[in-house]
Amino acid sequence: MAIIIDGKKVAAEIKNELAAEVQVLKTRGIVPKLALLLVGSDPASEVYVRNKHKFCIDIGIESLQVQKDASITEDEVLAIVNEWNNDPTVSGILVQLPLPKHINETKVLLSINPMKDVDGFHPENVGRLVAGLPTYVPCTPLGIWELLKRYEIDLSGKHVVVVGRSNIVGKPIANLLVQKQPNANAIVTICHTAAPDLSHYTKDADVLIAAVGVPELIKAKDVKDGVVVIDVGVNRINDSSKESGTRLVGDVAYEEVAPKASAITPVPGGVGPMTIAMLIKNTLQSINRK
Ligand code: GUN
Repeated sequence: MAIIIDGKKVAAEIKNELAAEVQVLKTRGIVPKLALLLVGSDPASEVYVRNKHKFCIDIGIESLQVQKDASITEDEVLAIVNEWNNDPTVSGILVQLPLPKHINETKVLLSINPMKDVDGFHPENVGRLVAGLPTYVPCTPLGIWELLKRYEIDLSGKHVVVVGRSNIVGKPIANLLVQKQPNANAIVTICHTAAPDLSHYTKDADVLIAAVGVPELIKAKDVKDGVVVIDVGVNRINDSSKESGTRLVGDVAYEEVAPKASAITPVPGGVGPMTIAMLIKNTLQSINRK
């Protein structure tokens, strides 16, 4: 039977560890502050930002939450970021994505002071990750790495196959696990939509990381026995047997893949809960990087 990688439990442990770190910082008179900007009223983004805010309050750091109407101009967004860049009480800045179409996301991300870029999306921090220099690792990849470490899954010389090449998950997790460093040093393949036969690659994976946003794309026939499966997908599908009429599934067909796996993350309760914990870890790290 596969080990179920319990992200909810690990995230709760990390929350306690971070709360203890915050207490130590407080004895030095330091109270970290995370500044969060939400543009518009997308319900999913509102939930994410509210949860980030709550996590901050729970562990005793400050959170400055600003929500602006979707009609805000790009210049106004840049002005808010600029104000936070110059505010010494702000340790970390997060602009929730996606932004409305009339705002250039890249321009906004580039405007964030790389030292306060706790999302790790600024090209300077992306470059530092690729070069193996100290940086902010984006939160979902960092959460995956932490889960692999805490479940003592050895990656050195193992074939990690990443399905998906997003800037938020696919590319950074590949760049992280390929580094010659402890708990990494993997042989990494990134697969994407141009792969003529995805299964050809996934079947060779010792560790399979699925981050494409296609419900239950990876089937039992696509993996080998003993694979470690990290499922980043969060997809809502119709299910008339549920009161809500829907349920969440990952990018992996859990029921059929789990019996072949040595370890697997469930959806929900796997990678998802780790992301906010890692955001706050990055925010505390911003104090040390200073
Ligand atoms: N939207 C979805 N995921 C993320 C994330 O990790 N950071 C930000 N800023 N926006 C997001």
